[in-house]
Amino acid sequence: MTVEQILTGRDNFSYLIYSEGEKEAALVDPGFSAAGSLKRLSDLGLDLSYIINTHHHADHTAANDSVKKLFSPQILAHELDAPKIKGGADVTLQDGQILNIGDVEIKIIHTPGHTRGGICLLVDDKFLLTGDTLFIGDCGRVDLPDGSCEVMYASINDKIKTLPDHLIVYPGHDYGDKPFDTLGNQKMVSKVMLASSLEEFCGIP
Ligand SMILES: [Fe+2]
Repeated sequence: MTVEQILTGRDNFSYLIYSEGEKEAALVDPGFSAAGSLKRLSDLGLDLSYIINTHHHADHTAANDSVKKLFSPQILAHELDAPKIKGGADVTLQDGQILNIGDVEIKIIHTPGHTRGGICLLVDDKFLLTGDTLFIGDCGRVDLPDGSCEVMYASINDKIKTLPDHLIVYPGHDYGDKPFDTLGNQKMVSKVMLASSLEEFCGIP
């Protein structure tokens, strides 16, 4: 199983998920322009079965339509964010749902706080694609219309912190001092993971 991190635009990350020797692939968050992801799909000779959107914001979803015209994938998003995606979603997702891409298993983890329907993707107990829920060293904005500091604090503490340390965190933006890290290290160094109370968390500038 391979997860490729693809820089898209200035600082967005798209992710291509596929298995060696199999044709089926999923693209997570095509971004504003999917040119880099489309080139990788072409180079690898893959068929795109799914686009998975971690949340509805346009910098993650605007290229859904152009990719769909080329590959006819199903577009998947959490049921709370799907109606806000331009062009909509074909399949809505819920917390705990399992997707299979070839022999790759993807578990949907609902992590609201940046948006109401934000999700993280746990891929084969190896990778955690965190969208705009968790960045390296930080978390996504909670001051936008769908955001909530209290809800983000719960998502980080009740969902993300309970996951195993060996996971590789693959965020939705290249905002940190490195493009990815282990979850175990982020638990030790990230200010949003270290905050020990809601008051402290919501006071982080
Ligand atoms: Fe976002």
